[in-house]
Amino acid sequence: MVSNEFAIAIMAAGKGTRLKSKHPKVLHEIGGRALLLHVIAAAETVVRADHIFCIIGHESDRVRTAVAATGVQFVLQPEQRGTGHALQMLKADFELSGRPIPQHLLVLSGDVPLIRPETIAAVRDTHLREHAAMTILTAVPADPTGYGRVLRASADKPEVTAIVEQKSLRSDQLSAPEINSGIYCFETAALFARINALTTNNTHGEFYLTDIAAMLVAEGKRVVAIKADSVDEVLGANTIAEMMHLDAAMRLSTAHRLMAQGVTIFRPETCVIDAHVTVGPDTIIEPYVQLLGNTHIGSDSRIRSYSVIQNSRLGDNVLVRNGCILDTSEVANNAILGPYAHLRPESRIGEAAHIGNFVETKKTIIGRGSKANHLSYLGDAVIGDGVNIGAGAITCNYDGVHKHPTIIGDGAFIGSDSTLVAPVTIGAGSYIAAGSSITEEVPEGALALGRSRQTTKPGWVAARKAAAKQNTNS
Ligand code: UD1
Ligand code: CA
Repeated sequence: MVSNEFAIAIMAAGKGTRLKSKHPKVLHEIGGRALLLHVIAAAETVVRADHIFCIIGHESDRVRTAVAATGVQFVLQPEQRGTGHALQMLKADFELSGRPIPQHLLVLSGDVPLIRPETIAAVRDTHLREHAAMTILTAVPADPTGYGRVLRASADKPEVTAIVEQKSLRSDQLSAPEINSGIYCFETAALFARINALTTNNTHGEFYLTDIAAMLVAEGKRVVAIKADSVDEVLGANTIAEMMHLDAAMRLSTAHRLMAQGVTIFRPETCVIDAHVTVGPDTIIEPYVQLLGNTHIGSDSRIRSYSVIQNSRLGDNVLVRNGCILDTSEVANNAILGPYAHLRPESRIGEAAHIGNFVETKKTIIGRGSKANHLSYLGDAVIGDGVNIGAGAITCNYDGVHKHPTIIGDGAFIGSDSTLVAPVTIGAGSYIAAGSSITEEVPEGALALGRSRQTTKPGWVAARKAAAKQNTNS
């Protein structure tokens, strides 16, 4: 596409009063990602990021920071005086910067996040085919209440006569079924020629972009509507409840995408899977699993119920038993976790390693085939291959001021309930006796005992009881 032919404006300056939230609306998340990022991702499939103009205003610094990495342009709307006013700011920005004005302008709403690239392209194509001055994306949802309504000259014709906002509907228009999605394509010149003529003579006292439709029609310009294939993709997120409806729709479609790729997801409606998670074929995801953020799971793995996996990468044939929590960690092929394992950031679990119940790891590397099956804390440790960590063994990595490393060589055997006081190195193949407190380096192949000897007093209990009885009798 010729670079100056199309640009996209995304209206994202509003506060989102109906959310009753202190955060700007377009930064609320569905599917684990800000609304605005979803819209930008869809827009980027149609034009390059530097042809996308985000109109920001409420908490503009936060919004800008949150999406800056996408490379989009920003236009400031310092006061939010309506969608028409947002586009007035865009026009002023073009004029001030001397940037070439694109021939066509697609306008998206930052709070309509499920819009699909194909649909944006369809709006563009209809616009070009119909030689329209304005093309409006519409839908007919079960309940149109709250949306602006698109009135057509005749039900079976594309021509539109006006868009009427909910609060301005006459009683005989209240049942008008076709809603305005807030997504349009304009001839930029036709829009910019009229945008400053909008007035605020309406219930909200705002400049309505939607009024442009009737203005164009009155001047004999062509305004057409195109219906979206699915209703969900044009729904807006004005309240938390609406947002959660979209979140559920998005997650269900993510689950369906994964299932189409050979992943089994039992009861997908109970799982919380973020939009960008990837999972290999023949992996099984049980009910009530959460896969969040930038998580990748290989094939032939199984994630049992109630596990929450975030920003982590798991290999093939990994078994995550019930109730595990993984954050920013890596798990190699054939490893087994849980139940109730807790992998905190920067844990790297080696191939075929086992991390069992109530074992917590943090910034720790566990080698191939090593096992820590019960009740351990392993932090700031580098653990070799084939190591056995007994129940209750703990790395004491923190002295109250600094964190210290523990190094455990290949094949070492750490007895149950040992405390390894870091910094400390345990040589390869060495044995640590159960219950030891290890404070000094253990050389390769050594046995280290760090506990006091047991003393046993035969017959002590009977003697004590006899003495006590004599005392009460006297
Ligand atoms: C708007 C439409 C309505 C349509 C609905 C679809 C108008 C007047 N009405 O209503 O016909 O059915 O969207 O979802 O356009 N924004 C700005 N600056 C502002 C005001 C809003 O950038 O001054 C942004 C908001 O951040 C939001 C988008 O524009 O992303 C739409 O604004 P919103 O107030 O949600 O409009 P609706 O009442 O939903
Ligand atoms: Ca809205």
